[in-house]
Amino acid sequence: MIRPRRNRRTLAIRTLVRETSLTPADFILPLFLHEDAEDTPIASMPGVTRWSLDGLLREAGEAHALGIPAVVLFPKIDESLKSPLAEECHHDAGLVPRAIRALKAAHPTLCVITDVALDPYNSDGHDGVVRRDEHGELTILNDETVTILCEQALCHARAGADIVAPSEMMDGRVAAIREALDYGGFQEVAIMSYTAKYASAFYGPFRGALDSAPKDGDKQTYQMDPANSREAVRETLLDEAEGADMLMVKPAGPYLDIIAKVRHTTTLPVAAYQVSGEYLMLKSASASGWLNERAIVMESLTGIKRAGADMILTYFAKQAAAWLR
Ligand code: PBG
Repeated sequence: MIRPRRNRRTLAIRTLVRETSLTPADFILPLFLHEDAEDTPIASMPGVTRWSLDGLLREAGEAHALGIPAVVLFPKIDESLKSPLAEECHHDAGLVPRAIRALKAAHPTLCVITDVALDPYNSDGHDGVVRRDEHGELTILNDETVTILCEQALCHARAGADIVAPSEMMDGRVAAIREALDYGGFQEVAIMSYTAKYASAFYGPFRGALDSAPKDGDKQTYQMDPANSREAVRETLLDEAEGADMLMVKPAGPYLDIIAKVRHTTTLPVAAYQVSGEYLMLKSASASGWLNERAIVMESLTGIKRAGADMILTYFAKQAAAWLR
């Protein structure tokens, strides 16, 4: 008789036949930073901190020592530095370029990824430049935004970023950033494109962490409709043709079918972002005592990798890496 249970009989056999395994090398740790000298706990994300520069260097060093190869930076920008054209996003003495330089000096083997988008810097809280018509109707201007994104990517490259990660879903931005980087002499700086980024309610705690929620309107004219999957294939083919080095799907847990689809559409490495709302759900559910935190975190990360992600951006990166040790 055919008995699938024979392959599950002992731990040794289960280990032999296991199809998916996690290692600390799969993880990318998102890190929040601000200008203050204090490290501040983030209310919307229990266990996550907004770091001072010193705190950031310490946290990144600890993550790297646990085997995590990369971090991605998200700044909270002082309200007084925000403007409609987000000029602060390509200021060489700004918070992010300073953090990149300090990180590369302190941890030369750590891969530093930066977020390319206007929302932390834009007085409108949108990922792109906003135009308002006489009726107060908003338009997010695509090509004007892409020009600024190129300046931002160049600024990060000058500071020493290894990878820039455009997260604002403007059309044509991968090709434009690639050309700007190449022309600027940064042929070796890679682009991790947020390829299928959905207009998700799961970003709420992140916007709380950075004070970056849109002041007006929502992000549905640039981020994707959660109901669509063929559109993710279209975005994948475009980003690949435009020269992206890695693609990303975001959020991860509710979009495992999209991860699998993107995986089968491209030969490029695929990343998935387990976002702030997914983090908060797992944290609060385990705080209730009814679910085991370690077990549900590892199961959720295994599911994301099994769906086809080569790497996972997760706020659990350090915890998970420590559990895997
Ligand atoms: C914005 C950006 C967002 C996230 C990463 N980059 C928020 C948004 O699109 O509104 C969300 C990450 C998370 O929720 O963990 N460029």
